[in-house]
Amino acid sequence: MSRSNVYVTRMIPQETIDTLRQFHDVEVNPHDRALTRTELLQLVRGRDAVITLLTDKVDGEVLDAAGPQCKIFANYAVGYNNFDLQAATQRGVIMTNTPGVLDEATATHAWALLLATARRISESERYVRAGQWHGWAPMAFIGQDVDHQTLGIAGLGRIGSKFARKAAAFDMKIIYTNAQREPEFERQYGATFVDKETLLRESDYLSLHLPLLPETHHYIGAQELALMKPSAILINAARGPLVDEKALVVALRNKVIWGAGLDVFEDEPILAAGLAELDNVVIVPHIASATIATRLAMGKIATDNVLQVLKGERPLTCINPDVLN
Ligand code: DGY
Repeated sequence: MSRSNVYVTRMIPQETIDTLRQFHDVEVNPHDRALTRTELLQLVRGRDAVITLLTDKVDGEVLDAAGPQCKIFANYAVGYNNFDLQAATQRGVIMTNTPGVLDEATATHAWALLLATARRISESERYVRAGQWHGWAPMAFIGQDVDHQTLGIAGLGRIGSKFARKAAAFDMKIIYTNAQREPEFERQYGATFVDKETLLRESDYLSLHLPLLPETHHYIGAQELALMKPSAILINAARGPLVDEKALVVALRNKVIWGAGLDVFEDEPILAAGLAELDNVVIVPHIASATIATRLAMGKIATDNVLQVLKGERPLTCINPDVLN
């Protein structure tokens, strides 16, 4: 097999790059930042395969810039709303993602956000670090109970169902919405399938585990927030645009809901005006899959997909399978 020319738009775990380098010529973005659009268009030119991040928008323009010899764009992420699948299929380019390996890490991280928001961990840590703590106080940082509360889950896919399973530790009542009912899951976890309005009205905690699609854009907006309990907490470790962030700022400021735990944002890395000033929100920089083992596994899938395709074989996780026919 002759060596191909592979570009990686940002450093991913070294071991995975080393494996790729045994077989192909690999160039990696040397900067510790995402490429600009102009750089992306320039750097994909003439490559046989490209490994991208969720921050790289890969559309017809980028595919054309890469050229007709390019066989695969492999996303180093499970979400692929940055990919134009149709444009790739039209040009015969394979697109892949990294499903399966980041479900536990992401679900655990959603729980970390839930617990941190409920028990005001970030806010109280800021208080201690600022030297404001002068001793135990009976009314300081009173949070919300988690045990025995109602947990609402929007989207019971791979990550949503892992998230739900972890609720057993807190003996919670689970309600969920999903494209279809999951009777086995309902039986095993005593979960109840509900419509969106019931989910909004009854959840003490509502966690989003939906893909970002035109129909899920602003799944939570002002109207939905108004239906939620004033004691409710919203968790989003899926995709930022599922939530109308401006409406969320207003709702948090006016105590329409009690709090939110956010890993993702509408216009990353920019936050909606006023969000960072609020104490009733926990905000972290899109790190749900950021564990050593998970990021390594994501890198392995992305590079295995590239190796397979450059060998003329089927990739492991193709997201535009029509291209393979
Ligand atoms: C993904 O994979 O889609 C996450 O957002 C980053 O791991």
